Formats: sequence, structure tokens, C-alpha cells
Amino acid sequence: MCGIFGYVGNKNAVDIILNGLTNLEYRGYDSAGIATISDGSLQIRKSIGKLNNLYKNIKKYPLSYTNIGIGHTRWATHGKPYKKNAHPHVDSKKNIAIVHNGIIENNVELRKEFAEKGYHFVSETDSEVIIPLIKENYRDGIANTLEYILPLIKGSYAIGIICRFEDSKIVCTKKDIPLIIGIGENENFISSDIYALLMYTRNLIFLEDGDIAEISKNKILIKDSNGIEKKLNIKNIKWKFNKISKTNYKHFMIKEIFEQPFSVLNTITNITYKNTKNEICIKEKIFFNQEFIKNIKNIYVVACGTSYYAGLISKFWFEHFTNIPTIVDIASEFRYREPILNNKTLVIVISQSGETADTIAALKLANDKNCKTVAICNVVGSSISIYAKHTIYTCCGIEIGVASTKAFTSQLVVLFTFALNYAYKIDTVKYSTLVTFLKELSEIPLKIKQCLKNNNFIKKLAKKFLYYKNFLFLGRYLNYPVALEGALKLKEVSYIHAEGCATGEIKHGTIALIDKNVPVIVIAIKDKVYKKTISNIEEIKARGAIVITIATECDYEIKNKSDYVIYIPKVNELLTPILTVIPTQLLAYYIANLLKYDVDKPRNLAKAVTVE
Ligand code: AGP
Repeated sequence: MCGIFGYVGNKNAVDIILNGLTNLEYRGYDSAGIATISDGSLQIRKSIGKLNNLYKNIKKYPLSYTNIGIGHTRWATHGKPYKKNAHPHVDSKKNIAIVHNGIIENNVELRKEFAEKGYHFVSETDSEVIIPLIKENYRDGIANTLEYILPLIKGSYAIGIICRFEDSKIVCTKKDIPLIIGIGENENFISSDIYALLMYTRNLIFLEDGDIAEISKNKILIKDSNGIEKKLNIKNIKWKFNKISKTNYKHFMIKEIFEQPFSVLNTITNITYKNTKNEICIKEKIFFNQEFIKNIKNIYVVACGTSYYAGLISKFWFEHFTNIPTIVDIASEFRYREPILNNKTLVIVISQSGETADTIAALKLANDKNCKTVAICNVVGSSISIYAKHTIYTCCGIEIGVASTKAFTSQLVVLFTFALNYAYKIDTVKYSTLVTFLKELSEIPLKIKQCLKNNNFIKKLAKKFLYYKNFLFLGRYLNYPVALEGALKLKEVSYIHAEGCATGEIKHGTIALIDKNVPVIVIAIKDKVYKKTISNIEEIKARGAIVITIATECDYEIKNKSDYVIYIPKVNELLTPILTVIPTQLLAYYIANLLKYDVDKPRNLAKAVTVE
């Protein structure tokens, strides 16, 4: 996690860095800090808590005008969110300042070594070891020193450094953690993501692992891990970028929930087109050629959190359409067991951010085993999109709320079309079936709009259930993963304990939890397991549960079996998860909002989990 932003140019660096950090705050908000160089001296400001505190600190204790600096917003890994652990870290003489994102795995050994040599550590962080590493090994400039010390560092990092003896440049490097250089006119930037840069420039350099860059306002010099100067690989980002703003919404999360008719439409439009017969077809180049999927014998779908739940749903689609056995795995588990992988395995990784450490490791493992790898990702130029052999973008626009909502529904759209198109390519689905399903999919954005009309009703439900301590989410078949996702969403933003369970499984244990104090949200849409679900509802009603069902429109009978019903429009049962998840998102949001939590930045979380 953590966000890094740096500036060198002719303008007021403090304002620009603070603005950059504001856009990166979703990556971590335990503390924040900034280091600048003015008149040959380092100036540092740090504050614990959200970035707002750093703004206030700088207002109270202004930094001198400067054109160069680096900033950091932290998600604590080593050491509590105290001021001393906030970045930038500096040496005792205030010669250098560093910001770091990632984890230095051999920090304990390094700390011991330097402590024995008399170095006094100020913080509890792993990052601070970079300071004595530089000091002890200093040789002819920061960049040369960095080249020497990088082999001594184990782990992952994006590092930005300023030094008062090289006061017109930022030196930076990265390994397994993103760091992007933005190129402006007489000014240059570094940032942990693209979005924080796009308001300044569209000319970007994506640093590669081991690169060391020296960035001045008019010059960028990059050397690779062998110390060889690289030709600058400048990418011009053309895609449309809307300014990051909550518009009239109170939080990004609710804005993003309401954006879903459009984000899903965008994702569909990116993948499909209408042919001359007005049929919806797949844009071939978005997916892959026949050769790529030839001889695939098994499929793995690997991801974390909400993306993993999208993966669980895709298992139904892949197996239903392609008849190919599909295993869905949590990335942090996948990477440490012994999955059966070879060149006949297709490994699909899903990640909104494209920077999740465990998912990246899983992807690298699959690449090493010669698997065909495909990433489903929302961030252009992210690590996952670079490492995968093929990437399909979700095109739902930047997602700021830490709780993922619109990315999930767009991931489902991509996975559904992926499975369908794949099946068509290997002749397990006919052209007419493909076209029928794509037509049905094209109606989904309007149906999401209808789901969102439950907004006021769900707000009222949230008011009723606000103070309950435990919730249960139940779903069967394709909607079992939606139950898991619904529970995760509520936990994340409202800090209320919630459990997702397969409806048919509760009688094997979880039913013991049921009483009048545990509201149960049951997804009970008209699908092939509807009747079974109704029997399960009877069982929990008989034990005093308060039942809120998510049901198919016009299912009036279900009213007798539930205390409250939220209706969603009719849709082919295979597509229901894209709709049933919407009420669960709204419920989580409204409960958290009524409890007055910082919905977009839930405690202990961060948007991109770039550490193991
Ligand atoms: C979602 O609400 C969570 N914040 C989290 O579970 C997230 O989905 C997970 O960390 C994976 O992130 P990714 O999609 O960016 O890889």
C-alpha cells in the first residue's frame, strides 16, 4: 500500500505534492508526510491520521517556497501509525529523505547490523533501514549508491529519495511495486499511480523492476538493473480521464454504486460491437486468438477479496459454457500450495488495482510454469497488466472507495463474456447462443438502474438494522459468492460482523447462530434452486430469524416467507449476480453512513494491498 508522489519543476512543489497525495490517499491513510529542499536544507512535515491533518500542519507551520519534494501517504505495516513511523524518513543530519512503499523483508537483519555499528533508528519501520544503507555505502551520488545497495535489499519497494547535496533531482527505483514518472514541460513527477499524474501530464514512463531514475526538471536518466542507460520509453495515455470528484454524492462509495449502469455499459461497449445485422458480437482483439486457448485442459481463476468472489462466480460460467474444469483460488493460498500448472493451464487473475501483491505473485508463478496467463484489471499500466500475457480491462473508471463496488460488476461482465466467447471458440456454444446471451447482457445496465431504485427502501432498512451486531448473508448456486461479497462489504465499511454462507450449508452448523438478533439476507431469486432456497428460508424462519430476501420482481409469494423483500428485475439466471449484488452494496453503504463511519476509508484498510 502507501502512496508516493514527488515533484521537481518551476512551480510550488508543496501544493503539487499535497494534491498528488490527495489523489493517492486511497492507498493508505494512517499518516502522511512531505520532504522538500529549500535553500539547501531539508524541510519535513509529518502528521498522523488522514491527509487533512498534514494540510493543517503545513498551514500552521508553512514550508518555505520550493520546487522540489517528495510526499507519502502510509498504510502501516511495520510500526504503529505514529508520527515517528510516518514517511519521509531522514538521517540525523537531515541530508537525505526517503519515502518507501512495499516491505523490506530482511529489515530485521539490516537493522541489527546497523544498530551494532551504532546507528540510532528513530522509527519502527522496515523502510528506515534505507537511510543507513545509503549512508554506509555512499559512493558518488545517490543513484550510484542505490545501484550498489539494491542487491542488499530483499523484498518489494518503490523508493523516492531527495538529498540536499543533489538539490535539483529526485532519485527513485522500484521492484514489484508500481512507480510511474510523469513528464511535463520543465517539470517532472513521480507517482504510485497514473491517476494522480493525469491532471498534469499524459506522457508517462512506467519504471521497470530494478530501474534507477534520476529526475530533474528538464532531464530524466534511467539505468536498468545492470547499470546500463535505457532509452526513455514514453507512453502517451490517450484515454478519457474524468477529474476525480464526488460530484454531489457524500462519498465515493455511493457515487460508484450509482455509476454502475454506466460503468457496466462502458465495459460492455469496450468488449462488444453491433454487426450489420444488428447483432451484438465480441470484439475479437479484446480477447485472444485461437492459438492462445488451444489445448487448454484446466482453468485457474486467482484473486483476492471482492475480485476473488467475482472469480467464484465465473467458475459457473466457465464450467457451464466451456466444460473445462475450473478451480478458483485465493491468491495468497494458491501461491503457497502446489497447484498443477503447465502449458495446458489457463490462469486468469483478477484485480481491480492490478497491484495486489499476492495476485502478482500468483501470476508470476503461473508465468514461470509456462501457463497461459490472462489478467482482468481496471488500471492501465499496472503491474498485473504488464506481467500477464494478455490483459482485458474492466473500463469502469477509477474506483476510489476502498470497498470495491463498480469494479466487481465490471469484472463479472468481462468474465461472463470471456467464458462465453471462449466456449464459442472451442465450439461448446453455438453462434446463436452467443448472440442471445450478449443481447441479454446488453440489457443489464438498464436493469442495474432498476435495482438502484430500491435505494430509499434500503435506506429505511439500514435505519432499522443499524444496531444489530451480526448479519448473515445466504445465497445458493451462482449467488453463493454474492452472499460472501455482501457480507464482506458490510464488514468492511460498517465494522459489523457478517458471515456469508451457502444457503444449503447452514443446517450443517451456521444455523446455530440464528435467532431474532441476527438479520438474515437471503438471495432467493427465481433460478433452478429457488424451491430449495424457499425450504431453507422456512427452516430459518422457524428459528426466529428476521429474513430480508432479494427476490425476482413479481414474486409475490415470497412476501409471506420474508419480513422484507427487495426486488430485482427478471434476468437469465446466469446473469443474476450482477443484479443481486446491488442491494447488498446499498445496504452496507447506508448502514456505515448512518453509523457515521468514514465509508471511503474504512479503518485498517487500503485500496491496493501491495504487501503480502
Ligand atoms: C474490496 O472491497 C476490498 N477492499 C478488497 O477485498 C479487494 O477486493 C482486494 O484487496 C483485491 O483487490 P484488487 O482487486 O485490487 O486485487
